[in-house]
Order: sequence, then structure tokens, then C-alpha cells
Amino acid sequence: MTLSGEIYSFEEAPLYQKSAETYIETGIDIFDLKNKEAIPNVSTSSYPHAHSIVKLLKRVKRSDKKYRILECGAGNGIFARHFLFACKKEGLLDKVEYLISDFNFRIVKDLRSRNLYQEFKENVHFKYLQLDLLKIEECCDIKSKPYELENLDLVIMNYCLHTLPCSIYKKSSGQLEKLYIEFLEHSDRQVQVLKEFWMEEKKVRFEAKEKKYRDFIHSIADSYKDEQKIHFNFNALESLDQLFEKLNPNGFIYISDIPTMDFDSKISYRAFAGAIAYIINSQLISNFIEHKNYWDYIHNDFILYKHILSKSEPSFQFKKALKENFELNNPCVLFCEMISAMKIFVSDQSHRAYKALLNEFISIDDVSVYSKLYQAIYYMKIKNFKKSKEFFDQAEKENFFNTCPVHQHRKKLDLYIEREQLLKNL
Ligand SMILES: C[S@@+](CC[C@H](N)C(=O)[O-])C[C@H]1O[C@@H](n2cnc3c(N)ncnc32)[C@H](O)[C@@H]1O
Repeated sequence: MTLSGEIYSFEEAPLYQKSAETYIETGIDIFDLKNKEAIPNVSTSSYPHAHSIVKLLKRVKRSDKKYRILECGAGNGIFARHFLFACKKEGLLDKVEYLISDFNFRIVKDLRSRNLYQEFKENVHFKYLQLDLLKIEECCDIKSKPYELENLDLVIMNYCLHTLPCSIYKKSSGQLEKLYIEFLEHSDRQVQVLKEFWMEEKKVRFEAKEKKYRDFIHSIADSYKDEQKIHFNFNALESLDQLFEKLNPNGFIYISDIPTMDFDSKISYRAFAGAIAYIINSQLISNFIEHKNYWDYIHNDFILYKHILSKSEPSFQFKKALKENFELNNPCVLFCEMISAMKIFVSDQSHRAYKALLNEFISIDDVSVYSKLYQAIYYMKIKNFKKSKEFFDQAEKENFFNTCPVHQHRKKLDLYIEREQLLKNL
């Protein structure tokens, strides 16, 4: 496909269309490490991340027999697996119904065929749904039957709102101008070749859906300097608006996304493996929530930007759990730092130090494939090859979509065993 000289408003540009096509064509493989450019999701899909949200959920009063949880844009589904394990640890498993959704039906089917949730029961603990955040009312189940979303206690959106097209404005002499982009040339997925430029427009033209939320962009425009870009995620506002309708009075929406500081101020999106991540304008979301008289908690660390939203002010216990799991401790950040730390001890002689780290790691994650891998490495270091092999076997079995580098470490164990065998035969 070659587009040349075509001009589009940002949200209508084939950027979104191309990105959606990439997700659909690539399916689960978009997260696979064998791809040079896999979508990074170690932090969002980590067990400690899932566990910290289960601890919050525990503080929410159940309004039905079970907590009903919807995950949007579930991707490789690892977060859902960890969430269910965390529910089990917290004694909540029989009290949850987890709705695993993605707009990509191929992904939903892949998740099912790989038996990712074999330790849990479909239609009891979890259910697969196809849900496009741009068409929430068209949600359907795995048999393509319409599914009515209702009575939700929790909606989870990890790296998901940023997939929705937004428009971009800038302030010029106090007026809002809309950003248009021109396609200079576009072949394959070389989205980086797209060039942006400003149209000389003095009037703001808000289109259909966008118009519904126009007051929110005006409400934040004052705090922007002239010539500064304003990301207007009206589709994110629309989908949040609709999801609030499906939420129980005590329920909450959990959003985690790319920190804004990760974006260069000149760019408006980032491309990962040919899929687009638009900037989420957190201030816009906060103003929208304030206008609705809802409750908003923001937490920003160097890995994730988080919004926790609810219709009413949560209980003291809920806020206490927030403080404990997002401020005083941050298991998700700790998990990412530990992954870096585990790489430091390369030699077998460092097994004592490695063991000390491993104990710390297991205290926050004794579930994920990373936990199995590090145990395998530890036993390899102390030459307990039998135990090491057991952990490697388990890690390989649970490395459903090749999201953890198990294979490269396993090769070392195979060499050790081969060498031992040779020595025995001498
Ligand atoms: C960056 S991935 C994040 C996946 C996963 N939540 C994670 O953190 O690893 C974005 C996911 O959103 C899905 N997605 C893209 N557009 C969507 C839409 N309009 N509605 C729902 N999901 C969408 C993609 O298929 C993909 O699985």
C-alpha cells in the first residue's frame, strides 16, 4: 500500500487502521520474544502487578455473588493467568468471574487453544469475550453470541487505552487548531515515515463523537502554552464513559499505561512491532472524572502511569491498600528491578548471593515463569541438575507464548549434563 500526499486528521489517519491490522494479522506472536520487535509487557503482565490489584479488589464490597472483573485488550493473557493465581492465594478464587477480552478474536481463540488457564475452570472462574473498545455494545462471547456487560466490580486496562485513536490540537494565539498529518509515503509497516504538520486553521472543528467531549479539551487548554500539542483522547473518554455505565456503585476502573515522560515531546505516538501507542493525556482523564463527580487516584512510577477511577469515594480500607501496594511498597517496580538484578550474578560461584536474591524474588512471585526459571538457574549453579531440570521443564511448559528467555538458559544446563555424562564415561 502506498499513500502519498494524502492529508488526514490525526484520528482518521490510516495509522489506527494499520495498527489494528497489525494486531489482527500478528495475533499473539506480537508478544513473542523470537520477534525482534515484540511488544514489551513484562511489567504489566507480571504476577506482582496482578497480585497488587487483587489486594485492592479484596477491599471492595461485593454486590453480587461473585466479583465480576473485565480485562480489556488482554493481549497474551498472562496478566489474567496471574490474576487468577493471585485470587487463589488470597482465597478469592471461588468468588471471581474473570472476563478475558480483546478486540482481536484470533487472540481470544489462541488463548483458549493454548490452555493458558488449565488450572482454572472456564465459565466458572473465567470466560472469553470479544470486545472492541470502540464498539462496546457489540461485545460477544467465544461463540460470537452477544454478551451483555453489566454489574462489573473491576475493569482492567493495561497498555490498552493507548491503542485508541485520538486527535491532536495545539494552542495558537489562544485558539485551538487541529493537527492534520500527511502521508508522504507508506509501504509495509514503516509508520515512522509518516510526517506530521500543522494546518493553518483558526477555527476548531469538532466532529461527531469528538464534539460530545469538546468541553474537556477546553477545560485543560488554559494550562498549555502556545504552540504546545494537546492530545485529545476522546475515544478513551467515550469508552470510559460507557464502561462506567456497566460498573457497580463500588466498582473501580484500573488503567496502567506508558508514562508520558517516555514520549519525546515532538512525537505524538510510538510504534511497537508495527502497532501504535498514542499518548494518554492524564490531565484530560482527570478533568473528565472531576466533571462527572467521580473519584480519581493517580500513581506514577518510572514503569507505569496508573489511574484508579471509581464512581464514589472508596472505603478507608481500599485507600489503605492503595497506599500499601502502590506507595509504601511497589511490588511491580520491585519485580522489574529484581529481573535486572538477577542478571548480575553470572558465575556459579555466586550461588549464595543468587540464593539471597531468589528468596526475595519468590517472596513477591512464586508463580510466574520467571520464578521457575530463576529457581532452575539456582539449582544449576549448585550442580543439582535433577532439580534444575524439573524447574526448567516447568518453566518451558508455562512459557506459553515465549515471553521469557527460558530457552537460552536451558542450553547451558544441557551442556552441563552432557559434560557430566562424558566425565562419567571416561
Ligand atoms: C499493547 S497491547 C497490551 C496487551 C496487554 N494488556 C498487556 O499489557 O500486555 C494492546 C492490546 O489491545 C488490543 N486492542 C487494540 N485495539 C483495541 C480495541 N479497539 N479494543 C480492545 N482492544 C484493543 C490489542 O489486540 C492488544 O492485545
